[in-house]
Amino acid sequence: MNQKIKLGALVSGKGSNLQAIIDNINNKKLDAEISVVISDNKDAYALLRAEKHNIPYKFINPGKYKTKLEPNIEKEYVECLKNYDIDLVCLAGFMRVIKDEFLLAFPNRIINIHPALLPSFPGLDAQKQAFDYGVKITGATTHFVNSHVDAGPIIMQAVVSVLDDDTYLSLKEKILEQEHIIYSKTIQLIAEGRVVVEGRKVKIRY
Ligand code: GRF
Repeated sequence: MNQKIKLGALVSGKGSNLQAIIDNINNKKLDAEISVVISDNKDAYALLRAEKHNIPYKFINPGKYKTKLEPNIEKEYVECLKNYDIDLVCLAGFMRVIKDEFLLAFPNRIINIHPALLPSFPGLDAQKQAFDYGVKITGATTHFVNSHVDAGPIIMQAVVSVLDDDTYLSLKEKILEQEHIIYSKTIQLIAEGRVVVEGRKVKIRY
């Protein structure tokens, strides 16, 4: 029997994407295992989700910076992920930028989900940025993580229409629904070895 791909999830908040991954694994839609969940926020609801599902979890204090990890602490994150022999690092609402050392430790093996159609609306509050801009379509994007914010090669995207009666909150909900679908699909494709990165382009071999 083939070994399942081992995921390490990095979280900061409520963890609905983590929950969707857990549910899809339990429903056998995703052939993977979450080996560890790490949070930079000790109060993250995502940690309770991990606990409830008997997934090892850890809070690692991020240190003094707001948007990145202190370099020595970044090493701790990497060490923890290596100790669990992680194949793929999944950022699931992790609110910090990943720096070079971390990226080098997991080349093309860190992915993120972003609540907009990149390269439009990178950064924080992407749903609000899109809503306020007045776009007619937006959506969700999975991508490999590189050293620029929300700028790595795109793996998968799902489109969401913005209707006249949408509010920012209804739009956010619709995008989140799509996030929950494409994040697991992306992980499954990677687990099956179908995702090939060629420079900026990601090709899916079916
Ligand atoms: C999601 O919208 C994700 O795209 C963004 O942060 C949010 C995390 O939500 N990166 P959750 O913690 O998974 O519920």
